[in-house]
Amino acid sequence: MKIGVPKETFPGEHRVAIVPSALPLFIKAGHEVIVESGAGTAAGFPDGEYTAKGGRIAGSRTEVFAEGDVILQVRGLGANPDAGRSDLSHMKPGQSLIALLEPLTAKDEMNALAGRGVSAFSMELMPRMTRAQSMDSLSSMATIAGYKAVLIAAVELPRMFPMMMTAAGTLAPAHVFVVGAGVAGLQAIASARRMGAKVEAYDVRPAVKDQIQSLGAKFVELPLDAADAEDKGGYAKAQDESFYRRQREMMTKVVAGSDVVITTAAVPGKKAPVLITADMVKGMQPGSVVVDLAAERGGNCELTKAGERVVAHGVTILGPTNLPSTVPYHASQMYSKNITTFLTHLVKDGKIQTGADDEIVRETLVTCGGQIVHARVREAFGLEPAAAARA
Ligand code: NAI
Repeated sequence: MKIGVPKETFPGEHRVAIVPSALPLFIKAGHEVIVESGAGTAAGFPDGEYTAKGGRIAGSRTEVFAEGDVILQVRGLGANPDAGRSDLSHMKPGQSLIALLEPLTAKDEMNALAGRGVSAFSMELMPRMTRAQSMDSLSSMATIAGYKAVLIAAVELPRMFPMMMTAAGTLAPAHVFVVGAGVAGLQAIASARRMGAKVEAYDVRPAVKDQIQSLGAKFVELPLDAADAEDKGGYAKAQDESFYRRQREMMTKVVAGSDVVITTAAVPGKKAPVLITADMVKGMQPGSVVVDLAAERGGNCELTKAGERVVAHGVTILGPTNLPSTVPYHASQMYSKNITTFLTHLVKDGKIQTGADDEIVRETLVTCGGQIVHARVREAFGLEPAAAARA
């Protein structure tokens, strides 16, 4: 099997789909790895490191697509809607693509991949289960985002994070409030604690209370009935607007007393709930910082603008959209581990399996045989169920 690794073309994307140390696994199994020249450079992996590990550097991007039986990308077409389009014409029927695709919202792009006869697997749709944990790139990227959110908040804040007792007086520690304690939130809590901040956190899933406390943060108890907050995949379920209204009211005081608010509250496939209103921002001390990790999905803060910096009532609101790419070396290393484990899982007898009897395949395969085959993606696009379509 030939594995093609093109250079990422999304603006500002510095990650690469696989790192050189992943190559020997495939080479030893008799596969070939073809890497576009410069694919790893921005992440700190020059061409020479790929060749040293048995890879081949392709003369052109077209060659990678023409030769690859499977193409590995960080951002495939749906997650790279403009620049990604120019790769379509190089793709061929029966070719497999494994990448972040944003499949639930990129209807035209998924139709285009189906139209090319590509078997496209979405890394985002990896089920959150023990067996697939090492393939879960959303979790590994969220870990990085949580860490980096704390760093950018610390740089922005006109105060220091730790308490300091100095000859020039005692400095109070910064108060950090983390809303949503999933993967990103827990890493934000841990990172802020390491820097000496006083950390509080809230999540609708009561199950995370122990995890928050074990990281040395205080769990903010809100008398909200979120008993049915978790779906069977461990993700949060959407609540109704009256729940969010009460949540906002109850969080107002905590937000006002925080120097930094980091929001990560996401509900898969849905717009992020607004949990911090403009009025709540107004109640914060000037100089305070909000880092909204849900910016790309509409934001948890009413004032967030994705990819921009907004200053309102003296408070800085940041809506970073691609934090993992700002730590490209480790982000690539983690993504590479996720995608190579997944590829290894998919390959049987030298071929990529697309049979729906394997749960991981069924949950991640979006297009195959000229059709969109994924149940949830079909539903999101208003298509009839896949079985009926196949019949
Ligand atoms: P996750 O699903 O593990 O965590 C989200 C958490 O928010 C869950 O624990 C959930 O229970 C909680 N939540 C949902 N609704 C809530 C509410 N109303 N109040 C309080 N908590 C609530 O997701 P993960 O993997 O931690 O990702 C978090 C966010 O970070 C996502 O929006 C993701 O897209 C984003 N992200 C952003 C990046 C960036 O560069 N900006 C990079 C990676 C992830």
